[in-house]
Amino acid sequence: MKIMFMPDALATRVAELAQTIEADYREKDLLLIGILKGAVIFLADLIRHLSLPVEVDFMAVASYGAATKSSGVVRILKDLEVPLAGRHVLVVEDIVDTGLTLRYLLDLLWAREPASVRTCVLLDKRERRLVPVPVDYCGFVIPDVFVVGYGLDYAEKYRQLPYVAVLDGEEG
Ligand code: PRP
Repeated sequence: MKIMFMPDALATRVAELAQTIEADYREKDLLLIGILKGAVIFLADLIRHLSLPVEVDFMAVASYGAATKSSGVVRILKDLEVPLAGRHVLVVEDIVDTGLTLRYLLDLLWAREPASVRTCVLLDKRERRLVPVPVDYCGFVIPDVFVVGYGLDYAEKYRQLPYVAVLDGEEG
């Protein structure tokens, strides 16, 4: 594995993102939505830098498999517990790749009539995008390599690594 972002680089960037978010949502009632499972570590670190009175909820989604992935339809494995009407929502994701998952989620969330929806993404694999999605708060733009760690997995492994690394033999 080749390390892409060491723990201190991640911590610095997460703190910076939190500072920007805090400035933008001052006086607002913010609901953070973490998308399981990958976003768990990022979300946990991010919220510990926020002194705003935030609420946290989670959604779990899965794509319908390779054959139908390009349709962008995702399966909701766990839905939110709170209603969104009138809320300021910030969706927290570990990575955006094709954008299909986030596009589907944003459409679904907007239909619940929140006051606003923004996105906060740690890693943006921008060159892989198939559909446009707004990334309002971006940790790092990364190239098209397979990354693991800091919440990101390969076959459910490596999520616990404190750094982000390129998985061996998975470059390009
Ligand atoms: C990852 C990531 C996004 C999605 C991005 O989740 O957390 O939800 O893939 O890909 P896309 O932009 O091409 O749609 P994954 O399916 O790996 O699930 P996980 O978070 O449980 O690891």
